Amino acid sequence: MSYLLAPSILSADMSHLGDAVIMLDKSQADWVHVDVMDGVFVPNLTFGFPIIKAIRPLTTKLFDVHLMMVQPERYIKEFKKAGADILTVQYEACTHLHRTIQEIKNAGMQAGVAINPHTPAIMLQDVLQDLDLVLVMSVNPGFGGQSFIPQSLLKIRSIKKMMAACGSHAVIEVDGGVNRDNLVQIVEAGADVIVAGNAIFSTSRPIDTIAELKAMK
Ligand code: DX5
Ligand code: ZN
Repeated sequence: MSYLLAPSILSADMSHLGDAVIMLDKSQADWVHVDVMDGVFVPNLTFGFPIIKAIRPLTTKLFDVHLMMVQPERYIKEFKKAGADILTVQYEACTHLHRTIQEIKNAGMQAGVAINPHTPAIMLQDVLQDLDLVLVMSVNPGFGGQSFIPQSLLKIRSIKKMMAACGSHAVIEVDGGVNRDNLVQIVEAGADVIVAGNAIFSTSRPIDTIAELKAMK
């Protein structure tokens, strides 16, 4: 079983955020997942540019920035400057999604689109070929530590089929409620990248948990 692991620093101890990123740098994690929330699109607030800029030099791992915010197109260049490598916007937050995807790519980042649990996979059909990443939200965004919504497995499979039909090379990332009990079936359904927050940072030795998750078969 081969997949990329993107620990979500939302679940890290915020009083030692820098140490968490340094730990991830030394770990077998593949990417660092950074959840930006605006208090409008989701009922929570998290990181902005100053924090992303401050932690960016602490690792060479790819910064996978997930924007849970309205009108994300206003800040594309700022996220590039702050150090984002992949910028993922929410489908539900973008009126001109096609244009936003092009702007992310023109700014020199990989472009991702996330869909909430209620959004059918088919809504991505006309942009799939332009995307580097599709993010399947397997919880309602806003908080770490929620339970995986089982219907997400069907959605991963539908997206995989749609991608094959149009020749898309995007990767499928799954975010929310992933743990060691459901990880294998999520990867078998077609996930290429797994986000995990609580499953890693609630354990006493997150660096060992990352190694264990990466070794799962
Ligand atoms: C939720 C965020 C997730 C979250 C995942 O809105 O997008 O990235 O941190 O946390 P867990 O793995 O604990 O569900
Ligand atoms: Zn996320």
